[in-house]
Amino acid sequence: ALRGSFAPKAEKPNQMSHYGLRVQASYKVAILGAAGGIGQPLALLIKMSPLVSALNLYDIANVKGVAADLSHCNTPSQVLDFTGALELGNCLKGVDVVVIPAGVPRMPDMTRDDLFNINANIVKTLVEAVADNCPDAFIHIISNPVNSTVPIAAEVLKQKGVYDPKKLFGVTTLDVVRANTFVAQKKNLKLIDVDVPVIGGHAGITILPLLSKTKPSVSFTDEEIEELTVRIQNAGTEVVEAKAGAGSATLSMAYAAARFVESSLRALDGDGDVYECSYAQSDMTDLPFFASRIKLGIKGIEAQIPSDLQGLSEYEEKALEALKPELKASIEKGIAFVQKQP
Ligand code: NAI
Repeated sequence: ALRGSFAPKAEKPNQMSHYGLRVQASYKVAILGAAGGIGQPLALLIKMSPLVSALNLYDIANVKGVAADLSHCNTPSQVLDFTGALELGNCLKGVDVVVIPAGVPRMPDMTRDDLFNINANIVKTLVEAVADNCPDAFIHIISNPVNSTVPIAAEVLKQKGVYDPKKLFGVTTLDVVRANTFVAQKKNLKLIDVDVPVIGGHAGITILPLLSKTKPSVSFTDEEIEELTVRIQNAGTEVVEAKAGAGSATLSMAYAAARFVESSLRALDGDGDVYECSYAQSDMTDLPFFASRIKLGIKGIEAQIPSDLQGLSEYEEKALEALKPELKASIEKGIAFVQKQP
């Protein structure tokens, strides 16, 4: 079944307080880059979650108004705003999940890697603050190029002595969301039923939808496989071109990121049946980071699913081998960026 809907989870006995009151909202979430194109709708979607008690919004500018606006919604979480480096520490204290969409988005004719120089520094600085203030939090990295920014975050956390590979996630949920949508359209399936795992990384050919593992089981012609795979890989560019200079995906990204946050919160809350695809440290291949399906639990990644890489089609096997050199280079670029700094 699809995970990560916004439906409130079933109540559990341990969610009753001593007074018999229902205690649902109990998690603290921070968004770093909250005034941006992704940050704002993401904040709205997280504000709707019954599991969130505190929503801390951080940006270098323009976040006061976003927080004031959102705070009038009559949902459980308290919304606070934090502006600028001096307030970053306070934003992060006691937080359970940190989501990072801070940085610049792509413009037409840019690859995600073109964002490296600016976003690498932003992610490094923000993750240093996470290490200092909430080292036990789940960290969701949205800022591109994800293939490199996640290894950057890992190196920063290692240097700080607080790296827990089970709690650092590159958000690739949008690739799954897109794959599900495009496959359902192509095959006239009910959207809610469709689930396509997407593995590898989050840029161009490193995005590998495993159409052979689509649920419900469905058959594709070779042409359909080629067309769908290429469309899923280039879907971000479809949006960048349609926005023609106004940025990249923000609304669908916010939707996807909110789903990943909600799944993380359900896992933290003891739900034993939460699966998502994510780009994280991995034993699935010879690459140190790799996106694949993971089982989420209270301590983060509880398990990878090695069987997902078994029984791939010939097309997928080839695509998997073809993506490895690019993904490897992006990982090494991220690691080198942190290691070469004084
Ligand atoms: P945006 O430019 O609309 O918003 C970015 C926000 O980050 C701005 O509010 C800006 O003030 C803030 N910011 C910049 N430097 C900061 C810092 N040092 N600390 C805190 N905040 C800072 O960009 P948008 O469209 O929201 O995209 C954000 C990132 O997400 C981009 O890197 C983009 O490439 C990435 N992205 C990732 C996707 C994924 O699937 N993982 C999909 C779409 C975008």
